[in-house]
Amino acid sequence: MLSCYLFLIISLMISFRDVRVSASGSSCTEYPVFTPPALVVKYGDPANFTCDVCQKDCSGDSSGLEHAVGKVTRNGTTILWTVDRLTEWDTSLQCYYNNDAGDQCTTILNPTLYQPPESVSISFVNHTGMMFENQQYTLQCSVQNVAPVQNLTVTFYRGNTTEETQHLQSNHSEEKKPANETFTLNITSSREDNGAQYWCEAKLELGPAGPQRPPVVTSEKLPAIVHYGPELKEPPNPDVITITEGDTLNLNCSSVGNPSPSYTWTLPTNSPSYSGSVLTIKSVSFEHKGQYICTVSNTVGTVTKEFNIDVQASTVIIHQPWIIVGVLAGVLCVLVILGVLCFRSYKRTRKGSYNLKDVLRFPKRTALPLQNCENV
Ligand SMILES: *[C@@H]1O[C@H](CO)[C@@H](O)[C@H](O)[C@H]1NC(C)=O
Ligand SMILES: *[C@@H]1O[C@H](CO)[C@@H](O)[C@H](O)[C@H]1NC(C)=O
Ligand SMILES: *[C@@H]1O[C@H](CO)[C@@H](O)[C@H](O)[C@H]1NC(C)=O
Ligand SMILES: *[C@@H]1O[C@H](CO)[C@@H](O)[C@H](O)[C@H]1NC(C)=O
Ligand SMILES: *[C@@H]1O[C@H](CO)[C@@H](O)[C@H](O)[C@H]1NC(C)=O
Ligand SMILES: *[C@@H]1O[C@H](CO)[C@@H](O)[C@H](O)[C@H]1NC(C)=O
Ligand SMILES: *[C@@H]1O[C@H](CO)[C@@H](O)[C@H](O)[C@H]1NC(C)=O
Ligand SMILES: *[C@@H]1O[C@H](CO)[C@@H](O)[C@H](O)[C@H]1NC(C)=O
Ligand SMILES: *[C@@H]1O[C@H](CO)[C@@H](O)[C@H](O)[C@H]1NC(C)=O
Repeated sequence: MLSCYLFLIISLMISFRDVRVSASGSSCTEYPVFTPPALVVKYGDPANFTCDVCQKDCSGDSSGLEHAVGKVTRNGTTILWTVDRLTEWDTSLQCYYNNDAGDQCTTILNPTLYQPPESVSISFVNHTGMMFENQQYTLQCSVQNVAPVQNLTVTFYRGNTTEETQHLQSNHSEEKKPANETFTLNITSSREDNGAQYWCEAKLELGPAGPQRPPVVTSEKLPAIVHYGPELKEPPNPDVITITEGDTLNLNCSSVGNPSPSYTWTLPTNSPSYSGSVLTIKSVSFEHKGQYICTVSNTVGTVTKEFNIDVQASTVIIHQPWIIVGVLAGVLCVLVILGVLCFRSYKRTRKGSYNLKDVLRFPKRTALPLQNCENV
């Protein structure tokens, strides 16, 4: 019950007096006093009270207690009333005396007889089984054989979500005998309600004269099964997804729904059919380019999600930094070698023996004799 919040309180409350005083004449200066002043008794329990008929104006000769049930004992001006089992739903006890002027001064005590609810049950009105999202349903809490019904408070609970609605009136307000009462609550189902439990609690609030702990009876728990169509966990992505050849492609179509949705994929290639929520391609190649359509459905509805995939050639340098380092090292090597060559040829030119042009010309020279031979 800790995790449950107040859902709704419907209560019927009518304050009525347990004690009334009346006088047949206006000459009464005091009235009989009941101790305790109010009597709240559980059906079938013993009860007692005393009535102090008068304290000052006791000169009159007749006094008494009108009672339909119970036993009366007298001690002077005090009347003791006892009953072993109080089972009269509507009892009125009148304590009176006649004063000097001949008027009857009377105090009336109406004991409240209560009976905790015999049973409390919860159900949907005209509905069984599962519910659908965003529809109105009527919950009904039936309380049987409870008295007095006007002191009854019914609270509806739903799991641990808070919601408040209207009150309901009953016309049992004057009933003293046990009555059956039903309380209704209109609810609009939502997917969050799925798995929640509805229940109600009937409590008899009998005021300060009643029992310290008001009688409480709770209903059984009514589980709510709400069916709803699939909903994508991640929203669709309208843009083209560009992926590099050789990379891993993950298409996530995970959805929630009740009942659990099933997945079917329409793939660009004639690949075998796939029915998981996430489509993974370990190493993408150009043939994987195209449109992927994921269809998620359950008995309530269907949603689709499209993925447009473009595959681009692998530009290794971008992705693998160690290659950049390698290439840079290579370039540096070539530059160094060229530098060395240039330096050496420069030195030779300075010596005057021959220059770079001579070196390049050398093959021509060697070719010359051959040419000569041919010519010969
Ligand atoms: C009268 O009622 C009170 C409270 O119910 C109880 O404690 C007490 O024993 C009763 N006395 C007699 C004489 O029955
Ligand atoms: C009657 O009341 C007086 C005082 O109020 C008390 O002393 C006496 O014991 C009572 N008698 C009986 C029989 O209860
Ligand atoms: C429940 O169903 C019965 C019979 O089908 C109908 O007479 C009654 O009006 C319905 N009650 C509600 C609250 O819809
Ligand atoms: C509702 O109840 C669940 C399980 O009983 C708990 O995990 C969750 O924290 C509760 N939520 C609130 C708002 O109390
Ligand atoms: C409740 O009210 C209805 C209509 O207002 C009436 O027909 C019926 O008799 C009432 N029941 C009681 C127990 O007062
Ligand atoms: C309350 O309902 C129970 C069971 O349906 C029935 O036996 C009983 O007579 C009803 N009581 C009244 C006061 O209608
Ligand atoms: C609850 O819904 C029913 C019909 O579904 C309607 O007749 C009734 O007035 C509604 N009650 C409240 C308190 O809105
Ligand atoms: C319930 O019953 C008691 C005793 O009959 C009465 O005094 C009180 O006003 C009623 N209502 C509440 C809310 O206690
Ligand atoms: C798919 O998306 C859901 C929701 O964002 C997430 O929980 C799940 O881990 C994802 N699965 C993969 C394989 O990425």
